[in-house]
Amino acid sequence: MANEVIFTPLKFRNLEVKNRIFRSSISGRFDNEDGSPTQTRINWESKFAAGGVGAIISSYVPVAMEGRIIAGYATVHRDEWIPLWAKLGEAVHAHGAKFIMQLSHSGRQLDLPGIHNKNRKALSSTSKTEPINGIACRAMDKAEIAHAVRQFADGAWRAREAGLDGVELHSANGYLFTQFLSSGINDRTDEYGGPLENRARFLLEVIDAIRQRVGRDFHLQVKLGGVDHNNVIFGEKPGNMISDAVQIARWCEAAGVDGIHVSSGSSFPHPLNPPGDFPLDMLAQSYDAMISSSGHGLRNYLMFRYKLLQPIFHYIWFRLKKGHPVEGVSLDEARQIKAAVRVPVIVTGGFQTASVIAGAIDAGVCDGVAIARSLIANNDLVEIWRSGAERPDRPCTYCNKCLVNAPKNPLGCYEQDRYPDYETMVRTIMSIYSTHADLKVPARDGLLTR
Ligand SMILES: Cc1cc2nc3c(=O)[nH]c(=O)nc-3n(C[C@H](O)[C@H](O)[C@H](O)COP(=O)(O)O)c2cc1C
Ligand code: SF4
Repeated sequence: MANEVIFTPLKFRNLEVKNRIFRSSISGRFDNEDGSPTQTRINWESKFAAGGVGAIISSYVPVAMEGRIIAGYATVHRDEWIPLWAKLGEAVHAHGAKFIMQLSHSGRQLDLPGIHNKNRKALSSTSKTEPINGIACRAMDKAEIAHAVRQFADGAWRAREAGLDGVELHSANGYLFTQFLSSGINDRTDEYGGPLENRARFLLEVIDAIRQRVGRDFHLQVKLGGVDHNNVIFGEKPGNMISDAVQIARWCEAAGVDGIHVSSGSSFPHPLNPPGDFPLDMLAQSYDAMISSSGHGLRNYLMFRYKLLQPIFHYIWFRLKKGHPVEGVSLDEARQIKAAVRVPVIVTGGFQTASVIAGAIDAGVCDGVAIARSLIANNDLVEIWRSGAERPDRPCTYCNKCLVNAPKNPLGCYEQDRYPDYETMVRTIMSIYSTHADLKVPARDGLLTR
């Protein structure tokens, strides 16, 4: 079979995945305000499992309510959610796929603060305002860092109790771990700031705490940015280079991590992640929700909304993309990290062509790939490749319309050219909501809270 390596199993220390394709995390507001996962999420994740991926890496799962980016994402901050996550795991397992929960904390990089972050500054490594959306924050003290370490360990324990197959620490793309790791963001002067080994301390403490809580037998992988490219906004420092990421990966391996997942960029979104276009007109239609909640919300909205101002943002954003491919945007970083560690390395960013993926694995650049948008566009991409095709007939165009719709509208593919008409697009996006919920009449006790 052409590109056969894609369909061969990948063995981690504690986990075997049936092929080399991971569904990368894709957040969407499918869940309840209190963080409990819903049937809609189960339907969403099951689509990809049924489509043949080896493993699903969950969407961003906050370990604390204050760590949410936006309301409506399932969390793992309560023991009561364990049976709900177990159901989700069961649904994914029914298709032979594994389920890895992405443990996350936003720190200062959040979209809509929600009631848990409303009247306080977000926690971070720093007190510097987040430069893209302008979210105010304050540097965590040591007790708060220790508390966050415990929240991650508790999250990993709940994932294991739910029978899930492992956890991934979201230490890429600008969230709390990046805020500690990045030399462009972390300006602390205590033992959590300064040289790389200090900036990596929080991440390594979390890994250690997870190992103490769940032992060595539970799969633990870390998502790392290969290069920060933190200077998206003028005046910001470039941040970590690949040599930093290589060293962090080595430390993670020594601390007991079973796999590294390579990404790019010290923010989300970032010009290199997800790579491709950035549709400003459509972004303005969903970004208006952020005008009142973020310091730079109005400034950004005006740049997205008005044709005269759009070239300013276009220049800022697109200048960093120059010279970078869309498909395999982080392959070079993956190659350098893979050369430095023995645990398997997977990489994300633009993958859609079977021979590109097989070629990278055969060349020893990575052991597998994590895909988000091409799987939103074609949930059965793995089966398409298995039939011998290089690419799907209606490929993902990397337009990023799914991304810019996500804060306000249901997650799905919004590239209308891929559908016969608008109604078909809406029907396809809404298909995961066609459930028969188990509705109950609530008892009087418990309704009348004060
Ligand atoms: C709508 C959307 C939501 C995403 N949510 C997450 C997330 O919760 N956690 C994460 O690590 N990456 C997230 N990503 C990034 C993807 O996992 C992936 O790494 C990135 O899009 C590049 O891969 P792709 O080119 O295959 O889409 C998201 C991407 C999109 C488009
Ligand atoms: S909207 Fe559709 S075509 Fe565009 S990037 Fe997202 S999945 Fe791909």
